[in-house]
Amino acid sequence: MSKDKPWGGRFSEATDAFVEAFTASIDFDKRLYKHDIQGSIAHATMLAKVGLLTEDEAATIRRGLADIQSDIEAGNFDWSVSLEDIHMNVEARLTDNIGITGKKLHTGRSRNDQVATDIRLWLREQIAYISEEIRRLQIGLVELAEQEVDTILPGFTHLQVAQPITFGHHMMAWYEMLERDYDRLQDCLKRVNIMPLGAAALAGTTYPIDRAYTAELLGFDRPSNNSLDSVSDRDFAIEFISVASLIMTHLSRYSEELVLWASAQFGFINLPDRFCTGSSIMPQKKNPDVPELVRGKTGRVNGNLISLLTLMKSQPLAYNKDNQEDKEPLFDTVDTLLGSLRAFADMMPHVETNKANMRKAAMQGFSTATDLADYLVVKGLPFRDAHEVVGTAVGYGVKEGKDLSEMSLEELQQFSDIIQQDVFDVLTLEGSVAARNHLGGTAPEQVRLRIIEAKQKLNA
Ligand code: ARG
Repeated sequence: MSKDKPWGGRFSEATDAFVEAFTASIDFDKRLYKHDIQGSIAHATMLAKVGLLTEDEAATIRRGLADIQSDIEAGNFDWSVSLEDIHMNVEARLTDNIGITGKKLHTGRSRNDQVATDIRLWLREQIAYISEEIRRLQIGLVELAEQEVDTILPGFTHLQVAQPITFGHHMMAWYEMLERDYDRLQDCLKRVNIMPLGAAALAGTTYPIDRAYTAELLGFDRPSNNSLDSVSDRDFAIEFISVASLIMTHLSRYSEELVLWASAQFGFINLPDRFCTGSSIMPQKKNPDVPELVRGKTGRVNGNLISLLTLMKSQPLAYNKDNQEDKEPLFDTVDTLLGSLRAFADMMPHVETNKANMRKAAMQGFSTATDLADYLVVKGLPFRDAHEVVGTAVGYGVKEGKDLSEMSLEELQQFSDIIQQDVFDVLTLEGSVAARNHLGGTAPEQVRLRIIEAKQKLNA
């Protein structure tokens, strides 16, 4: 019966059973129970501070809420769809347990500012977990980079062999992407960690509340500035999902490379068996499921971003029930992101490299052609002419089935007589990577420096 609901006073008939189920959020927002209780405890403490509750009443409420948390955690709580959401479920149980004092808790607040507060408390905690997982993955990458700092593989542009690079350099490229992701997340946290509580339904409250005190109790940086904005703003969630989308996009790029590298055609790496699965029909198969799934899950998170942007589009101030739809995409984003980061962080220390295959691949495709051109330029040839000479040499190599480093000095001198014996220093893979020795270059010496900086930052 609507009459039995906390808001039932002005209603003369019961809510339609389907409407009740359709409008309820308890099935998913019960996940916020801990943060809902945390917010209520701080609210009650503030109410006592300003004299709206006695200290005894506040203590009774706090104890009652703590008991409810234990009950929920012990699986001893019947969630009620007719009580709609986490806020009314907890409040009704409080009143059942402690009596009339429970009914005083909702003084000076509304579910509108309550839910906005709960989500921010919850998301703040999740951002801390996500940040930890990013760091763990970065440590894995830096360690792999360190192990493979001298390992040479072809670098690609257009997925065509371009120039030799080091595996360490490649791993550190992934590290850099995550470093930006980490920073973006901390920046997003600044806007998450603002307290809406006190905005009440939309206009604030007539009671002499102390919002700064509640914010301090809850560890928020400050209370929000405008009550209308506070109850309706979900920018912080949209911003978080956009950061998450970018992280997933990065993971999808790593995934794609791992899938390619683990294939027989590349054969650059071996993924640990426990991160792969087999085929029910093809006995030889070992499938890179984890990176494939992460690549696929990126789509869900991008979808969640669009869901939330579309949810907010054209919403008039202030709170609208539309906003109840914010939770599932947000929860799904956090679960997907945490799972994907965890899978990668767990997997990274066990990725085995196949140096011989990488080297073989780097020897194909004339990956040191640019080095030969640079060599000619140093000897005085204009770059465009050097480009032409090397192009002709590559054409010859294709015909003869020879890499530049496999040609004899006489063969090379057909294309330019300024080529001397010292050309072989630059035509080798080692010579090629070592020569790119400046900030950001692939030379092992440079990569080592970046690894040291990264390890200091990570305390690894
Ligand atoms: N379950 C609601 C939500 O998630 C809580 C706020 C509802 N407020 C209201 N006046 N109906 O947004």
